[in-house]
Amino acid sequence: MRSAFAPAELFGSILKNRIAMAPMTRSRAYGAEQTPGPDTVEYYAQRASAGLIVSEGMHPNPRGQGEPDTPGMYARAQAEAWQPVVNAVQAKDTLFFAQLMHSGRVSHPENNPEGLEPVAPSAVRAPGEIYTHRGRQPHPRPRALTTAEIDQTVRDFATSAGLALDAGFDGVTLHAGNGYLLHEFLAENTNLRTDGYGGSLTGRLRFVVEVVEAVCEVVPPHRVLLHLTPAKIGEDIVEGDSAALYDALLAALPVSFGGLSLFETGHRDLTRRLRERWPGPFVLNPHANYGDGKVPAGPADLPLLDEGLADVLSFGRLFLANPDLPARLRAGGPYNEPDRETFYGGGAAGYTDYPALQSTDAR
Ligand SMILES: Cc1cc2nc3c(=O)[nH]c(=O)nc-3n(C[C@H](O)[C@H](O)[C@H](O)COP(=O)(O)O)c2cc1C
Repeated sequence: MRSAFAPAELFGSILKNRIAMAPMTRSRAYGAEQTPGPDTVEYYAQRASAGLIVSEGMHPNPRGQGEPDTPGMYARAQAEAWQPVVNAVQAKDTLFFAQLMHSGRVSHPENNPEGLEPVAPSAVRAPGEIYTHRGRQPHPRPRALTTAEIDQTVRDFATSAGLALDAGFDGVTLHAGNGYLLHEFLAENTNLRTDGYGGSLTGRLRFVVEVVEAVCEVVPPHRVLLHLTPAKIGEDIVEGDSAALYDALLAALPVSFGGLSLFETGHRDLTRRLRERWPGPFVLNPHANYGDGKVPAGPADLPLLDEGLADVLSFGRLFLANPDLPARLRAGGPYNEPDRETFYGGGAAGYTDYPALQSTDAR
């Protein structure tokens, strides 16, 4: 039986349990270099009863930033600033992966310290608006990357992954979902290129495969996760035939590469299909009934481990609001409610002040 609470051998390590904290942007990386401060050390350390923590998304180059005050991982000073965070998490025997996330067209020059314009596979504007410090503004029309810039971006991912290892992270997760750059290359409506990076299903896979391969040159391949959000609605991404797309992607990925991480958005059939086709570790943020996305993954999902649908279950909002989530899952609750108002930006409120069970009892 794959108990959620028993140790498991995965990613070349012994995980103390099969519960992971899902990647969550918190927009609290302030200062010119957008680096974490002492609150971030405390935030992650509080949640280090997870077997695995995946960090908030970090942009691998300056242009990859989407939301304001998100951390970068492209300069030595940024890697150094993450070291205390990594040390605090690893001191509790938790595996810690950095998520590398290039936001592509879901970005705004006002969110970028250098005022850089967004880039994407093609100059297709994302509908809707993005949060900026001056309120919500329409997504700008992105500029299409040149072939030379695509090459450079692949190299930037590899350099960034190396810096994450220098910071002490155990591995990296590459964000290829949520309508960000890698997903934009995969999707039909955002990739209108006619060069080797588009024009056919094989062409649309190429950038993602090159990024995975380049990162696997730097990070031990079994410590590299690819994060997918198959058929996710709401990001104005049109994948076409999602089953065919992800079948082809899995077939094109290096065999020895580490694992998949899925943010499931209601397509359980697709999850089962990927699970069956992918021989390696499988981390699932489960949402059989994603609906409007308001119900967080939670305790009712734990039996999925016994069913073999995943090797590790990851939880986002429930972990954000419950720093001692594994203990609460084991005890059957109760659970603190996440406060949406403090998800992005601000200080300690809604970040490090959610009580653990013991302190809740003491009240
Ligand atoms: C505040 C917040 C920030 C998020 N930031 C990221 C991110 O940086 N990278 C990512 O892959 N997913 C991100 N997500 C998605 C979560 O990892 C997770 O897939 C989503 O919240 C649904 O799972 P849940 O029901 O367990 O919260 C974010 C979610 C929230 C609530």
